[in-house]
Amino acid sequence: MKKIIAANWKMFKTAEETKQTITELNKLLENIPLEKKEILIFPPFTSLETAVTTNNNDKIAIGAQDLYPAKEGAFTGEISPAMILACGATWVLTGHSERRHIIKEDNALVGQKTIFALASGLNVVACIGETLEQREAGNLYDVLAEQLQQTLAKLPTPLSPERLVIAYEPVWAIGTGKTANAEDIIEAHTIIRELLKNIIGVSAMQTRILYGGSVKPENAQEILSLDNVDGLLVGGASLKADSFAKIISA
Ligand code: 13P
Repeated sequence: MKKIIAANWKMFKTAEETKQTITELNKLLENIPLEKKEILIFPPFTSLETAVTTNNNDKIAIGAQDLYPAKEGAFTGEISPAMILACGATWVLTGHSERRHIIKEDNALVGQKTIFALASGLNVVACIGETLEQREAGNLYDVLAEQLQQTLAKLPTPLSPERLVIAYEPVWAIGTGKTANAEDIIEAHTIIRELLKNIIGVSAMQTRILYGGSVKPENAQEILSLDNVDGLLVGGASLKADSFAKIISA
C-alpha cells in the first residue's frame, strides 16, 4: 500500500491563497517521483472547490477537515458528506485533537462522524492521540484503546482497507515544535496496530497509520522509515508548497 503524505491546513488560506499554493505545488511535484506516495490536502471548507479545480495532479486528493453525521437538516453551520463530495473532495478528517479539545467533541461523536462519512462514500483519516497528562499518568494504551474502539465500533462491512486511515497525533507534539521521538512513535504505532487487529481483524495489517505532530522537512524521512509508520499528517509545515514538497520527497 502507498504511503500517505497529508496536509492539514487547519484554519489557514482563503480560496485565492489555496489556488496559489496548489498551483505552486503542482509545479514542484512534476519533478518528484510519486509512484509510492499518495498525497492528501485538507483545506478549509471554503477552499474545497477551488482546491479540487486547481489541482491538476492525479496523485493529489482533496479532503474536508470535518463533517456533520447527517444527510441534511436543521444543523446550522454544519456541512454534510454529500456537500463535501459535491465539491469533488473524497476524504475527510475525523477526531482531530483540536476538535476534541477546543470544540469538545467526544469519542461518541467522533465515532458517529467516522461511520457516517464512510457509509456516505468519503474516505476517512481518523485522528487519535493522548495529552501530555494522560501520557505522564501512564495511560497511553487506555486512551488509544478507548478512542479507537469508539471510533471504529460500528464500521460498515465490507470496507476496503485503503478507505480508512488512522492518524496518531500526540496532542503535546502538535504545533509545539516537540516531535515525538522514534521510540515514542514506534510504541504508539505498535499499540495501534495491535488494537486494530482486535477491532477489525486481518485487514488491520493493511490499514495505514500516519504520524502527525511537528513534522518538518528535516525529520520527515526518519519518521517515515519507522516500523508501522505508513505516512505523515502535517500541519504548519504543509502550508508552504516548497516545504510540503520537501516532505513529500523525503
Ligand atoms: P503541526 O504539524 O503543525 O504540529 O500539526 C499537526 C497536526 O495537527 C496535523 O493534523
